[in-house]
Amino acid sequence: MPATRIIKISAENPDVQKIKEASEVLCSGGLVAFPTETVYGLGADALNTEAVQKIFKAKGRPSDNPLIVHIASLENIHQFAASVSEKGLQLAKRFWPGPLTLVFRKKENVPYEVTAGLETVALRIPDHSVTLELLRQFGGGIAGPSANVSGKPSPTSAEHVYNDLNGRIDLIIDAGPAKIGVESTVLDVTVDPPIVLRIGGLSREDIEKEISKVNLTDRSELLRRSPGTRHRHYATKAQVVLIPLADIKKFEECIKQYKEQRKKIGAITYSAILGSVDVPKFHVFLDSSIEHIARNLFGAMRELDRQNLDVILIESVEEKGLGAAVMDRLRKAAAHVG
Ligand code: TXA
Ligand code: MG
Repeated sequence: MPATRIIKISAENPDVQKIKEASEVLCSGGLVAFPTETVYGLGADALNTEAVQKIFKAKGRPSDNPLIVHIASLENIHQFAASVSEKGLQLAKRFWPGPLTLVFRKKENVPYEVTAGLETVALRIPDHSVTLELLRQFGGGIAGPSANVSGKPSPTSAEHVYNDLNGRIDLIIDAGPAKIGVESTVLDVTVDPPIVLRIGGLSREDIEKEISKVNLTDRSELLRRSPGTRHRHYATKAQVVLIPLADIKKFEECIKQYKEQRKKIGAITYSAILGSVDVPKFHVFLDSSIEHIARNLFGAMRELDRQNLDVILIESVEEKGLGAAVMDRLRKAAAHVG
């Protein structure tokens, strides 16, 4: 495939003509990376089996990991979902467009590849002016995982997508950095109470304000309902080591230990107290608001990983609200060794 084209489209004032180009690529079975409020997605026509297969190939994605179908409006649910529970509809009405993916029983016309053979389909209306217009012009569902090479941190800018997928996809829409920076929350609403399959941009607290209770799963139930979660995620080449929040003693101990082992160390921290520690040049210091951390974390991990480090020390965050999603990503990143 020739080099991937990039078109810049302003999120404030989307150019309808440019979006038409992207829609045409989708109509002819091509791959388009699109912006969302969470992370960039890699899109194909959800009802075109061959196009969907190209997504798996471009990302190197394991075939047992199903894709989210992005839709333009509530009415489109019924093109893909066979049945919609009351709570599912209530949440869709309350939080769409937004960082919530809802898992419903699927309709028969949804290709096997999209759902990885499951009986369910994941749907979401993303909150991004450009992609909403793209969805309207395209007129169908856009199957789209995050637009990264499988296993890497999700892309929060068009540049991240380009670095991972140049030459493997047709087009990237560059609409600037993603607002939220972590992926959507995935909620299975085929059961009552609904089950959180992935905590993300919408917090459990916010969901529970709307419908009284949601459940978390144990690992075996999670693997049955969402088999793709078994695979490596958010892995950097460097080993990620988590440091407790504002724990300067632990931070300094780790730096000393890895220095003695002659490791090349980097760090991502937020607390003022850790900002004062002398880390060998590769230190990304983020503002301590959880929104800022979520928005910049994957970018910081990618930036440090380009320095060919051995270890990246990352400070933990408080596990509430958006912090739960951040800690989930950090734990998964730290589970990867080497
Ligand atoms: O914010 C997001 O969700 C981004 C943007 C592009 O929308 N997309 C994204 O897609 O993160 P992906 O493929 O990287 O993650 C989708 C998650 C995976 O954990 C997948 O296993 C799960 O959703 N999933 C998709 N379809 C499912 C289904 N039918 N049942 C259970 N889990 C499903
Ligand atoms: Mg992903």
